[in-house]
This record gives sequence, structure tokens and C-alpha cells, in this order.
Amino acid sequence: MYPAPAEITPPELYARRREFLKTSIGLGLAGAVLPAPTFAAPAQLGNGAKKSPFSTDEAQTPLKHITGYSNFYEFGTDKEDPARHAHQLKTRPWTVRLEGLVRKPVTLDIETILKLAPIEERIYRLRCVEGWSMVIPWLGFPLDALLRQVEPLGNAKYVEFVTALQPENMPGVRSRVLQWPYVEGLRLDEARHPLTLLVLGLYGDLLPSGNGAPLRIAVPWKYGFKSAKSIATIRFVEQEPRSSWMKAAPREYGFYSNVNPDVPHPRWSQAKERRIGEFLKRDTLPFNGYGEQVASLYSGMDLRKHF
Ligand code: MTE
Repeated sequence: MYPAPAEITPPELYARRREFLKTSIGLGLAGAVLPAPTFAAPAQLGNGAKKSPFSTDEAQTPLKHITGYSNFYEFGTDKEDPARHAHQLKTRPWTVRLEGLVRKPVTLDIETILKLAPIEERIYRLRCVEGWSMVIPWLGFPLDALLRQVEPLGNAKYVEFVTALQPENMPGVRSRVLQWPYVEGLRLDEARHPLTLLVLGLYGDLLPSGNGAPLRIAVPWKYGFKSAKSIATIRFVEQEPRSSWMKAAPREYGFYSNVNPDVPHPRWSQAKERRIGEFLKRDTLPFNGYGEQVASLYSGMDLRKHF
């Protein structure tokens, strides 16, 4: 039903990743404000990364599929488009603005963020709403290590993630398939949950551009589109944010978007999924198999209504 993953990963992608790594070491803290870095970022991001008890021991999806079969609509809607075009994304210099209902709004340089907390390896399942899944060895640390820097105020109930918009480098934004920039949101307690990862790399190295360099999130119990790539602004707000997908198709994509085999997408079932690289489909698990850790976040909620 779905096209086979591309077998090739363009060599430029790897060359550029190595280049970023070299320049990142020399760049220092240009434009950064607070706080003082606590941890030395290793030359190779995965070196010394802590193993996480949250990791799955399922077989990891080969790197060529993770980079070669991907959704990043700013570069086009084909699965191969990110590998083809995302090398155009300018990932240095890069800052992330944390603002809204917080005591200490701040703009942080990516080099500062890389050193905010010890890097962990988290091997997570990612389940796309389209019905395919992968197992990805991410590198990063809990998103909360970043969020807590700005001291959210009591009336901050949600966080909105606004991702980068570089029209000159993103051929996909000429299309109106989504409203740009790509926006996603989480409830604050979801964003601060220990499973929610600020991702800086995968497979031992910095993030490939097509997978959301230089930083994205991974929310493993939700459909893949909740995991915003190439984040530029994190805004703390009181009202539930409207994501790009909710604006594009409100009947099909709700705010919560927890992986739920019992709630079909209006145009297809969500009961099964195809692990990329495998032939037979497997059953999709509630909360993508992370129910033990996250189901309590939704106690008392009707997850058919709050899909
Ligand atoms: N983030 C941005 N900025 N733009 C996108 O188009 N696609 C989402 C999500 N994050 C998307 C995005 C979707 S639909 C999925 S399935 C995941 O990224 C895919 O992440 P991966 O390529 O690392 O597997």
C-alpha cells in the first residue's frame, strides 16, 4: 500500500553532517543568553551517551530508511523529498526562543542547548498516522531540561512549537498543503513528561537535516506528526494551540493524536501498522506501547472525543 523506502541516502547528507560537527565545535556561544553550560557536549554526540530504561529492545530501523523515508513537508510531500532537499536547510547559526507565560523568556543558541543536560540514547518506536512505523535510536535529553530554564508561570497550560521557516531553502512551502510555519502543541504535563525527548541526534551522530536538524522533539505515544522538527520557538500559552494539521483537516487530526488502534482515521483503520523494512503488518498498540507510562495523563478523558 505504501511506497517502498528509498534505498539510497545521498552522500551529501553525511558530508554535511560531518561539516556541521566540525564547525559546531568552533562556534561557541554567539548570540546566546543564559544559562551557563553545565555539560561538555562530546565531539561525537553519541559518545558516552547514557542508555535509557525507556528504550525498546526491538530491532532498530536501518539508518537508510530513517533518512530515506520521511515526512518533512517543508521539503515536499514525497517520502524521499527530505533526503533530496533538506540539505538546503541552514542549521547554523540556530537559536530557539522560549517565550510566552514564563518568568524568564530567553533565546538560546543551539550550542548552549547541546550542553544543557547529559545526552541519552533513547530507542523509541515512532508510529506515523499513515500506518507505518520505525524504531529509532534517538540522542537527546528530556524536553523538560530545556523548559524548566524559563520557569513556566502557573497559567501556562500548553506549549506551542513553531518550527523554522526558510522559504528560500524549503521548496515545499510553495505548496499550500499546510499553513507555514509548521506548528504543533502539547499540554504542559505531556511536554514535561519524562518520555518526551528533545532530540539532537540519532544513530550516534547529530540529526540529519531531513529528520529535523538541529533539534526536534520525539513524543513516542503520539502519532508522528506531533513530533515537530527543526524547532525555532517554544511558546507557553493558556489556550490549546491549533496545530497546522488541525487547521488543514480538523475532522481528521485532533489536538491529542494519541496512538489509538480503536479510533480509526476517518479514511482508514489505525488497527495495524507496517514496520518499515518488514512485509507483514503488526497490531498497533494503544499509546504505541507506552501506556504504562502515559495512560494516567488521560484518566477521565474520553479518548474518542479527544482524538
Ligand atoms: N515537522 C515539521 N516541521 N514538518 C513536517 O512536515 N512531519 C511530521 C513530523 N514532524 C513534519 C514534522 C510527521 S507527519 C512525521 S511522521 C514525523 O515528523 C516524521 O519524523 P521522521 O522523519 O524523523 O521519521
